[in-house]
Amino acid sequence: MLQSSLRICGTSSLRTAVVLQSGISGLGSDSRRSFSRIDGYNHYYGKLKNQEGMLRDAARNEAYRAAFEAARPRLQGATVMDIGTGSGILAFLAAQYGAKKVYAIEGSPEIARVASRLARANNLHHIVEIVPKHLEKVTFDDIPAGSVDIIVSELFSHFLVGEIGLQVVTLAKQRFLRPGGLVLPEIAWLKLSPFEDPALGAELRARHSFWEQTDFMGLDLTAALPLAAEQQLKEIVLDIVQPEELLIPPEQSPGECLDLVGPDDPEVWRKISFELQFPDRTRDATIDGLCGWWDAVFSGDCMGDKPPVLSTAPGAPPTVWAQCRFLLDRPLVASATARLTVKCELRAHVQRESYSIQMEVRNHESGKVAYVGPVELSNCYARHFAKPNAFPVVDKNGLAPAADGGTGGHRAPLAL
Ligand SMILES: C[S@@+](CC[C@H](N)C(=O)[O-])C[C@H]1O[C@@H](n2cnc3c(N)ncnc32)[C@H](O)[C@@H]1O
Repeated sequence: MLQSSLRICGTSSLRTAVVLQSGISGLGSDSRRSFSRIDGYNHYYGKLKNQEGMLRDAARNEAYRAAFEAARPRLQGATVMDIGTGSGILAFLAAQYGAKKVYAIEGSPEIARVASRLARANNLHHIVEIVPKHLEKVTFDDIPAGSVDIIVSELFSHFLVGEIGLQVVTLAKQRFLRPGGLVLPEIAWLKLSPFEDPALGAELRARHSFWEQTDFMGLDLTAALPLAAEQQLKEIVLDIVQPEELLIPPEQSPGECLDLVGPDDPEVWRKISFELQFPDRTRDATIDGLCGWWDAVFSGDCMGDKPPVLSTAPGAPPTVWAQCRFLLDRPLVASATARLTVKCELRAHVQRESYSIQMEVRNHESGKVAYVGPVELSNCYARHFAKPNAFPVVDKNGLAPAADGGTGGHRAPLAL
């Protein structure tokens, strides 16, 4: 999860790991989820700087705290399972809100050890039991079947699903949740809005212009150009998007609602496909791409009229996830009132580590169609972290200015 706080990536990504508003500058943590092997994934979450990035994400933490507050009556004396406990934060919160037993499941051995130490140091080890395993490997000897009252998790990534978290929650529900038990959060929205930004396409093309050189130390590099271009087209762009950059404001943008509680079979998450119709835009435009984000809603029956929401929308308090920008293969001209639809398909990778996304945007007035992808959600370009100069310009004293203006961070502060 982080400007002054977003979650992620270098040029690839797990989460953007810098948090905002709480005055926290970029931590320089690794991007969330760009690994092709589960070892790399464990290693990423085993690094404390990446856990720290999530803990610094005040908007994220506050949404979970509000959900626990609303569910306080249900938490009294309850048995809770926290899937992917990381540092243990949600497990410890559950204990503080009255749970009598918390199973804190963590697949990364390094961070599981840290969570154990924190449990003991905070005298919560009588309540919080760290289970240092992937959820998929947890047996009924570890946790009795159907014995859990509340499942909580934060396994979200880019465009929500990037880290194969929904499957894990469904599996846990199937095996360990008692009938009528609570799952936090209960639903999530995948949201899309078109944008016009001709400069973005030009900028992305310029990213591989390095390989256009015909005399780089006497070498012609252009043979690498097609691959450089292809690799960049396969990246999603993570960015901080302002609401006014969108052709449909976030609150009017259409979305697909995912029921995180309903399914009994994790396989249902193998393919997620939906079609949305966009309302009229603010103006005629040449659409360059779609901005994507998600909102998770703690909507259980105990949550009252205004359920807590963890929103990663443009304009919402910044989070480690920032927003995704999906570039169309070609710009699509559309009048403000043209009927515009998008078909979106997300497919889990065979190795079940991430998803690829494909979209078809259709202008029903002109009959023209443009496409996104397939792009891997685990393959990110964290544009908000990109700096114009990879190597700092030195001043007349031969000193490089601190990238964060002197606070000691590795990345330039994010302009929100
Ligand atoms: C995004 S972090 C969240 C950590 C913590 N819950 C928090 O809110 O700060 C997700 C954690 O889940 C762990 N994880 C991911 N998939 C898992 C699985 N299938 N079983 C157990 N742990 C998993 C990761 O190693 C990581 O520590």
